[in-house]
Order: sequence, then C-alpha cells, then structure tokens
Amino acid sequence: MITPVILCGGSGTRLWPLSRKSYPKQFVPLVGEQTLFQGSAVRMKGDQFAKPVVITNSDFRFIVTEQLQAVGIDPGAILIEPEGRNTAPAVLAAALYLQKNDPDAVMLVAPSDHVVPDTKAFQAAVAAGMKAVKEGKLVTFGITPTHAETAYGYLELTTQSDGDPVALKQFVEKPNEIRAQEMLDAGNYLWNAGIFLFSVKDIIAAFEQHSPDLLPPVAQAMETGHVDLGFCRLGPDAWSEAEDISIDYAVMEKADNLSVVPFNSGWSDLGGWDAVWRESPKGDNGVLTSGEATAIDCEDTLLRSDSERLEVVGIGLKNIMAVAMNDAVLVADMSRAQDVKKAVEALKAKN
Ligand code: GDD
Ligand code: MG
Repeated sequence: MITPVILCGGSGTRLWPLSRKSYPKQFVPLVGEQTLFQGSAVRMKGDQFAKPVVITNSDFRFIVTEQLQAVGIDPGAILIEPEGRNTAPAVLAAALYLQKNDPDAVMLVAPSDHVVPDTKAFQAAVAAGMKAVKEGKLVTFGITPTHAETAYGYLELTTQSDGDPVALKQFVEKPNEIRAQEMLDAGNYLWNAGIFLFSVKDIIAAFEQHSPDLLPPVAQAMETGHVDLGFCRLGPDAWSEAEDISIDYAVMEKADNLSVVPFNSGWSDLGGWDAVWRESPKGDNGVLTSGEATAIDCEDTLLRSDSERLEVVGIGLKNIMAVAMNDAVLVADMSRAQDVKKAVEALKAKN
C-alpha cells in the first residue's frame, strides 16, 4: 500500500483576491466543483492507497478535516506544523511518522494546489513508479515543458522513456531564465511535477546523506509533539530549529538515485489566473464566467464573482481578468497574471 502525504502550506498570492493567507488557493474551488486540496486527496484514493496523511499548519486544521469529510475521505493522520518551514522538514516529519508504524512504508508526496484532470492516468504513472521504488529509487514525475519556466524544477533524462521509470542524470531546481531556455532547447529535460514517490527508508537515508542537519530537530519535534483532538502537533521549539528549505534543494538536487516517470496526461500548478482560465471549460469566444458574472461581446476573458453582493458585468473585453470578492476587486490584463502578487505586496505596504 502507498500512503499519500499531502503538503498543505503556502498562500498562493498570485491568485489574490481569492487566495488569502487565511484561506489559500488550495481550499477554494478554482476549477470545477472540488477544491484543489480535495482533488489531490481524491486522486490518491483507491485500492493501492492507504488513508492520507496531511501536513499543514494549525490555522487550516478544521478546513482540512471538513473538506476531506465532504469527499468521503478519512484521514490517516493530520500533522500540524507550529510554523511553515518549507517542504523538506514537512516531508521528513511525515516520513518519520510513517516509519514508526511501518518501516517499509511507501509514501506518495503530493502538493495540495495542482490540477491533474486524469486520475486514471495519474494512478497508472504511480503504479509504474513503484517498479523504481522497489529498486531503492526516489521517484519524480516529469511533465513535458512548454516554455522556459523559472518557477519549476527540471529533470534531465538519461534516456527517453515510453512511460516506464528512467534514471535521472540531474535535478535542477528553479533555474534562471538563460539556463531554463537552454534546458528547453536541449530537449531531454522535463519539468518536475512536485510529486514524489519513495519508501520512507530511502527518503530518510537520503536526508541522512544530503541534509543531515535536518534530522535532529525534526526527529525531536516528533518526539516532543503531542496528540490533541486527533491532530498530531509537532513540538514547536525543536521545529523552529529546522532549516527552512524545500525538498528540491535539500535532497533532490543532491541525490544520485533519482528516477522519473514521464507524465503527459495534463498537469497544471495553477500559478495564476491565466492558468485558471486555461484549465477551465469555457464558453464561446474563450469566455469564462463564474458566480454572478455576465459577459457581453467579450473574448478570451475571465469574469468571476465570489461575492453574494457584487455582480460583475463585462462588455467588449478582450484578454481581461476580473475577480470580485466582497472586500476586493481585481481587474487586470490577462498577460499580467503573474504580477498579481505585486498587488498583494502593494496592499501589505499600505496597511
Ligand atoms: N505543510 C507544508 N508546510 N506544506 C508546504 C510548505 C510548508 O512549509 N511549503 C510549501 N508547502 C506545500 C505547498 O502548499 C504546495 O502544495 C507544495 O508544498 C509545494 O510547495 P510550493 O511552495 O508550491 O513549491 P513550488 O511550486 O515553488 O516548487 C515545487 O513545485 C514545482 C511544481 O509546481 C518544486 O517541487 C518544483 O521543483 C516543481 O517544479
Ligand atoms: Mg507550487
């Protein structure tokens, strides 16, 4: 059995005003009926999976429980971080937690804020990845790149693959633009989907080898933690000693036992409103309306109201996105979707 480990931190400022620090994007239905978090949990449901472990912070513990219940999923455990220290400590904590009950456990680490529309294909890729896990590999999932994205990790293949896992030559996390373009042109790199499959034994060994300083504080946080109303709270003092670092830098860039399963059945990390628009089924002329929104003679436009008080109406718009909440309205050119984080920074500076 594979235990899903869902990482549930982060605030996703590029999806402001919907995504907030107090209610980040993974808990909002952005594409379709389910939230991204629910989608992630449902994708890892089935015969090959044990109950999921969710690792999150205290503020989200009830949202997590409610949203899992709503899709009929009973969590195996909800681990609570005293503060976000990035994905490396989170993954290590989950691995140590699982190891206690089953030293041979296998974990599938998944983000809570991605869209993967084809669950069957995803589960088949995971099943393929198990072949490499049995050989002691740390398995990544690779997406065919479409542009020189600098926000992702890149996976260099040793050979092409028809769907079976292949060994990785190197893992390059968040390259600069020049390097990203070089890797895109080279043709033998895939994007890292941010989903990982490995045995707890192998990932703990990888931490021991490549980031040994993380082990003592995270292990100590597990030992000094306590269970409270069913939530497993990590000890705050030890946890604050753990370095704030992602698993990509802490382990993946350094490990030499990586494998990749190519995955080409649709994946998006919904990094902005343009991606939400792209991934959603649209009406005529590429118009996406949601909530109390009406488009008249618009083209390639997103109009959305998540407010029961505000009606959004667009007339003659092209390549525009408008998102209304009770307390904020965003109107921007679609090509400026990545700059929405600047709005959040500007508002923070003002308050
Ligand atoms: N519990 C917990 N605690 N979860 C966290 C924390 C934390 O401190 N920090 C981040 N997460 C969660 C996020 O909510 C998200 O679901 C997932 O972990 C990945 O973190 P991101 O911060 O979104 O990572 P990224 O997008 O910059 O980069 C990763 O994903 C890319 C694909 O989207 C890397 O793995 C890249 O290599 C990859 O290409
Ligand atoms: Mg991300």
